Amino acid sequence: MKGLILAGGKGTRLRPITFSMAKQLVPVANKPVLFYGLEALAEAGIREVGIIVGDTAKEIEQAVGDGARWGLEVTYIPQPEPLGLAHAVLTAEPYLGTTPFLMYLGDNLLTGGVKSLVEAFEARRPNALILLAEVPNPQEFGVAQLEGERVVRLIEKPKEPPSNLALVGVYLFDSHIFEAARAIKPSWRGELEITDAIQYLIDQGYTVEWQKITGWWKDTGNLESLLEANRLVLEELPPRLQGTLEETEAFGRVSVGEGSVLRRCVVRGPAIIGANCLLEECYIGPFTAIGDGVRMRACEIEFSIVLEGSQIDSVEPRIEASLLGKNTLVRGGMRRPRTLRLMLGDSSSVEMP
Ligand code: DAU
Repeated sequence: MKGLILAGGKGTRLRPITFSMAKQLVPVANKPVLFYGLEALAEAGIREVGIIVGDTAKEIEQAVGDGARWGLEVTYIPQPEPLGLAHAVLTAEPYLGTTPFLMYLGDNLLTGGVKSLVEAFEARRPNALILLAEVPNPQEFGVAQLEGERVVRLIEKPKEPPSNLALVGVYLFDSHIFEAARAIKPSWRGELEITDAIQYLIDQGYTVEWQKITGWWKDTGNLESLLEANRLVLEELPPRLQGTLEETEAFGRVSVGEGSVLRRCVVRGPAIIGANCLLEECYIGPFTAIGDGVRMRACEIEFSIVLEGSQIDSVEPRIEASLLGKNTLVRGGMRRPRTLRLMLGDSSSVEMP
């Protein structure tokens, strides 16, 4: 079995961060989302992995390299335009050939890995195996309608969802999916939808099996789900203190990277602070991930992600539910407004009175 990871696309829902970085490389607990997928494939025993890349190809290739770090053989497959998930599958056809494959959407994150799915597919050899999860907002996903144990209908982002069962971004296919992807037409959003391709398989009488997800799953394509994924990964973070803590209290699961100095701070985990950071007189609250080389002084932050090289100085209200891009600057004064909610692009700068 081969792996196919989709890391093309546009990432419009995470702008402005994705103006300057691939959405699959936005870090969750200080590790790019994409790496969780690569780890899951390696753990399931898959060795050969194709990665679909688009405009951000260079950046993805730089971050992943040849895959040897995970024991994988990575091949990059350029998709000239992000014309849909089924279009990505067709783009990868020469690479995949007749080998069955596991397709993993590069912005998805799930616990429990994909090993049991691969085993179920190998044991029963359906034409497709899909993964479903109960969600409160099915209209934002592909949605499955079941009749008894059979999946009978799949609809992409329906206005009136027939169920609360969303399609998770992990699919197993045999080579009939190419026939399906060739047979379908672009959807209302102008994309060749994988959802429609799987519907074609159902309509043609091919076997499409499904499994319900056991752990949690997040599509990290928007801020809310990205912060939630960050929270969930941090909940399982092994504590590791490598930096220097001076007059600093750290409670719960806290990880501090090499070369970082925390002075007169309070850290309530779960939280991760990268390497070479300087934090003075700060409160770092639960579910916060601070990237490498960040400088913070006289501020409070929780349930947020701060990317590498950023600076936060003298900000009075507590920062929460925020995502700060690389090298951002937030500087505060003495006034007393209430909380702040920020989503700042790389290199942006905010100055307050
Ligand atoms: O996250 C699960 C959902 O993913 C499913 O429930 C939907 O049925 C499925 O269509 C998909 O929906 P999204 O609208 O969230 O897909 P998105 O455009 O975010 O693309 C998913 C990944 O695939 C992302 O890493 C970008 C990449 N991609 C996307 C397109 C359209 C490509 O590599 N090429 C493409 O042409």
